Amino acid sequence: MTQLRIGVLVSGTGTNLQAILDTVHGTDGIEVVCVGSNRADAPGLQRARDAGVQTGVFPAADYASRAERDAAMGDWLEEHDIGLLVLAGFMEVLDGSFVRRFSARMINVHPSLLPAFQGVRAIERALEYGVRVTGVSVHFVDEGVDTGPIILQEPLELPYAADISGVQTRLHEIEHRLLPNAIRLIARGAVRMDPDNPRRVLIDDGDA
Ligand code: GRF
Repeated sequence: MTQLRIGVLVSGTGTNLQAILDTVHGTDGIEVVCVGSNRADAPGLQRARDAGVQTGVFPAADYASRAERDAAMGDWLEEHDIGLLVLAGFMEVLDGSFVRRFSARMINVHPSLLPAFQGVRAIERALEYGVRVTGVSVHFVDEGVDTGPIILQEPLELPYAADISGVQTRLHEIEHRLLPNAIRLIARGAVRMDPDNPRRVLIDDGDA
């Protein structure tokens, strides 16, 4: 069986990390081997410890620059020999050299139908804008903010008077399915870039 060693970066609650740990970790050769954070108090770190996964903390303030922090964090991830890096609510923009280092093996989950509402406060801005449909995207990470090639998306229709917490809950439910699905597909070798179009991701398996 092919092995997929995964590193995850979190800044906050870590419910997406929990979904990965609960659904794909330890199955089909998929193993979460390390979880890193920019915040020592990120609740996601405790979820990793509870699952027996190694953790590392890399606060930007401990380094001379963001680039140095990202280099140290990258070295730590490489020491764990990861084949895939998952950003699961990592709330800092990563340095360009870090992004290039993990290019084509780093994915992110974002609570909008990209390219709408890239960046922070995506759900709030979608509601303020008055959209009737929003959703979740899982995409490869490039040097922009939420601009990388899209792997999977799922829409969510909004009622006229959508309240933020209800929408957040429903989007989280979608994220907790979509992100593990993307990881399963990558583990199976079913995800590849279209050689004719760098924006397009080809999925060889129709049942994601
Ligand atoms: C999610 O909404 C994800 O889309 C965004 O950050 C949030 C992380 O939530 N990138 P959690 O920490 O996984 O609960």
